[in-house]
Amino acid sequence: MSFSNTDKETTMVFSETVSDLKRAFSIFEAENAGGFSVTRNFISFSPIFLNFLKQDWQQRKGFPTYLYMKIFTIASLKGGVGKTTLTVFLAQALQSISPKSKILLIDLDHNNNLTDYFLREEDVHTIESHSVAKAFQGISPLSELPIRSEKFNLDCIPTTPKLSKVSLSVAWDAGLQSRFRKQIRSLSYDYILIDTPPALCLELNIGIFAADLVLTPIGFSRWNIQGYEEIKEVFELANETLDKKEKIKLLPIRTMVSEKKADAMDDIGIHFAKTFIPKSDSIAGAVDLGKPLSEKNAQIFETLAKEIR
Ligand SMILES: Nc1ncnc2c1ncn2[C@@H]1O[C@H](COP(=O)(O)OP(=O)(O)O)[C@@H](O)[C@H]1O
Ligand SMILES: [Mg+2]
Repeated sequence: MSFSNTDKETTMVFSETVSDLKRAFSIFEAENAGGFSVTRNFISFSPIFLNFLKQDWQQRKGFPTYLYMKIFTIASLKGGVGKTTLTVFLAQALQSISPKSKILLIDLDHNNNLTDYFLREEDVHTIESHSVAKAFQGISPLSELPIRSEKFNLDCIPTTPKLSKVSLSVAWDAGLQSRFRKQIRSLSYDYILIDTPPALCLELNIGIFAADLVLTPIGFSRWNIQGYEEIKEVFELANETLDKKEKIKLLPIRTMVSEKKADAMDDIGIHFAKTFIPKSDSIAGAVDLGKPLSEKNAQIFETLAKEIR
């Protein structure tokens, strides 16, 4: 980052910090109307904005969360395609590239692998009483459910295998999806990541409807690609009811593939994220045993995090 000062205006040329600045800028914009201009790679702004930047803006209270919060939902109709792995390591990557971020994970999959990864040491009773099912049933608001994981420096709303039964019991509740979307947006986090089950069910619909960006891992198999078409339908349906500026985005991610297969997938007519997650025993071992990733693999998730945040 380099600065060149003039009397009235400071000009900053920036590269990697672009998305942090964009977020700071949105908040600044809400507070101070006008007085600056943004072009694609270049920001010109007044000393007021410089002072603003010096503050710890990520921790600031009282700003509408939509200005800085981003909600990712990880969804695919295929099981075992790397959804939970992506959720786990993307959260860690976001934290590593943006250490002051407040991060929340929500487990909407009754297989609860995400819960197991982050809350391995929590007792069953605590997990049960903080289950996302409590929000589905209207027993507790979402804001009362997060469990803090000091080890991972993030919060997690867990689930248990009972979730699928609870979902069936509340399936009549037509307002649940939009209430969940609204409640999530009233929480105060920088990033929320939601893991979902591999089936066209209420939990998946709720997860997709709550998102800003749906990430869908796709492996090198025709069934994966067919599953993507189904997810796309849910996603398009969800977007029908949303305003233009609220529309959910969808981004497929090539997962568990070799570089050669990743290249081949570029020709199937789907627009993938640039970063792909390679097939790797070391990634599999890390997620299954709750261990940290190797530096090389951590970097892959960080590259993806920078691409999408
Ligand atoms: N990049 C990868 N390369 C090889 N194996 C992986 C990779 N990511 C995940 N796995 C393995 O695949 C299995 C399924 O991954 P998981 O994230 O649980 O999928 P899902 O949540 O879609 O069911 C896990 O046991 C994990 O060990
Ligand atoms: Mg999973």
